[in-house]
Amino acid sequence: MNLLRKKSVESMVAQATPLKRTLKTFDLTMLGIGAIIGTGIFVLTGKGALTAGPALCVSFLLAAVCCGFAGLCYAEFASMVPVSGSAYSYAYVAFGEIIAFMIGWDLILEYALQAATVSAGWSGYFNKLLEGFGIHLPVELTAAYGTTPGVTTYFNLPGFIVVLLITWVLSIGINQTKRTNDIMVMIKLAIIVLFIVCTVWYVNPANWKPFSPYGWYTFQPGSTKPMGIIPAASIVFFSFIGFDAVSSSAEETVEPNKTLPRGILYSLIISTVLYVIMTLIMTGIVKYPEFAKFVDAPVAGVILATGLNWLAFVVNLGALIGMTTVMLVQLYGQSRICYAMSRDGLFPKFFGEVNKKYHTPFKGTWFFGILTAIAGGFININILFELVNIGTLSAFIIVSAGVLWMRKTQPDAHRGFRAPGVPVTPILAIVFCCVLIAGLNWETWVRFVVWFALGLIVYFAYGRKHSKLGAAEGGASAAQSGIAGGDQASDNADAPDSLVSFES
Ligand code: ALA
Repeated sequence: MNLLRKKSVESMVAQATPLKRTLKTFDLTMLGIGAIIGTGIFVLTGKGALTAGPALCVSFLLAAVCCGFAGLCYAEFASMVPVSGSAYSYAYVAFGEIIAFMIGWDLILEYALQAATVSAGWSGYFNKLLEGFGIHLPVELTAAYGTTPGVTTYFNLPGFIVVLLITWVLSIGINQTKRTNDIMVMIKLAIIVLFIVCTVWYVNPANWKPFSPYGWYTFQPGSTKPMGIIPAASIVFFSFIGFDAVSSSAEETVEPNKTLPRGILYSLIISTVLYVIMTLIMTGIVKYPEFAKFVDAPVAGVILATGLNWLAFVVNLGALIGMTTVMLVQLYGQSRICYAMSRDGLFPKFFGEVNKKYHTPFKGTWFFGILTAIAGGFININILFELVNIGTLSAFIIVSAGVLWMRKTQPDAHRGFRAPGVPVTPILAIVFCCVLIAGLNWETWVRFVVWFALGLIVYFAYGRKHSKLGAAEGGASAAQSGIAGGDQASDNADAPDSLVSFES
């Protein structure tokens, strides 16, 4: 039983559908910002401010540096294995099947729960917008159980509905185009700049004192919840997730060697600068403990504290639009991973079946769309985003380790882009990821281990027996299960890229 059977770089590249190279640095930067700015800044800053105080801006910088190192490793892998499937595909080449499966399993958690988290944040702003018109939904239906201390909530109805709507849009093949993405990103950026310009005058520097009330990492007496700059960085790390979307468009990029790292770094730098300015302003207007009062929509809360009610309306609307596009990208990415795993035989065919009318993996999109809607409807946002963060950080670790491993084992493989400073860069990426994982609650580690154990069961019960790579290598078990293995060429007709690429 060869659990570490690998795909070769050449077979991966041959499997990819040639796409037109149209994306330039500007497009990649917009793509990155489109996927990055969302719930993290609009919602999790409230929790971040309660965890680190005004030093939250340092937490943002810490998370950004971690993402910068990991981003360079992603870019190297993406330029070497420029196919869909992101870290899943990279791990198949670097480490072999079982690790690839576990990363794919991890990415499903990451993408599905990201969208569920964003749906929870979306719901908070939607409710604020409705309240502006004097409409009040029954409070029980505005958030998952236990989201807001002291308020009885059971179900996040607006979030549930918006995820189903986006699933429908994706399932019938309406995809985000470069143009719509650009417009949405411009709206998001304009809203943030408007926020900064209008509210900076209300900052009271006295609110920044003490700047770092909890230091780097501490526990309050009687609590198991870590506090300080590092735990807050582990929270707001969520705000940067999505830049890996840039690396997965390696195949569609003009001169990936230059444009990929630029796209990743520019989108990270722009987001970081905006995040740091925003958090300084927010903690300068409202004293950090006060964020507990509006933790579900902190940006709106800060604006209301200034009395600029008209601005609250505009920002709420912009936040809703921004978060909608983030969910679109996430659910789309999720369907790509499932598709890639199903194509490789590691997941049932059901998830990869292409609908003849819409040319989308219709059933798989709906299956996970419904699960995501239910997760966003019932699970507390605090549980959701921590799981997303630990899943993403684990993927970053594998990708960074993969860069080190591939440089050693396949030094001559073609790399469109070489991460600078190897081995230091991937090692630093791994160290930063471990630090951020350490800042998460222990309950999150346990949940993650359970999810991983479940993945191992699925792999041994299904994936290992049905793996097309295994069948191609003459695996008896795959033959027994009646799978026509190894015919990757025939899969190309259905390659996800040809269905759902980021159109120009
Ligand atoms: N970075 C994305 C967000 O903050 C996931 O919504």
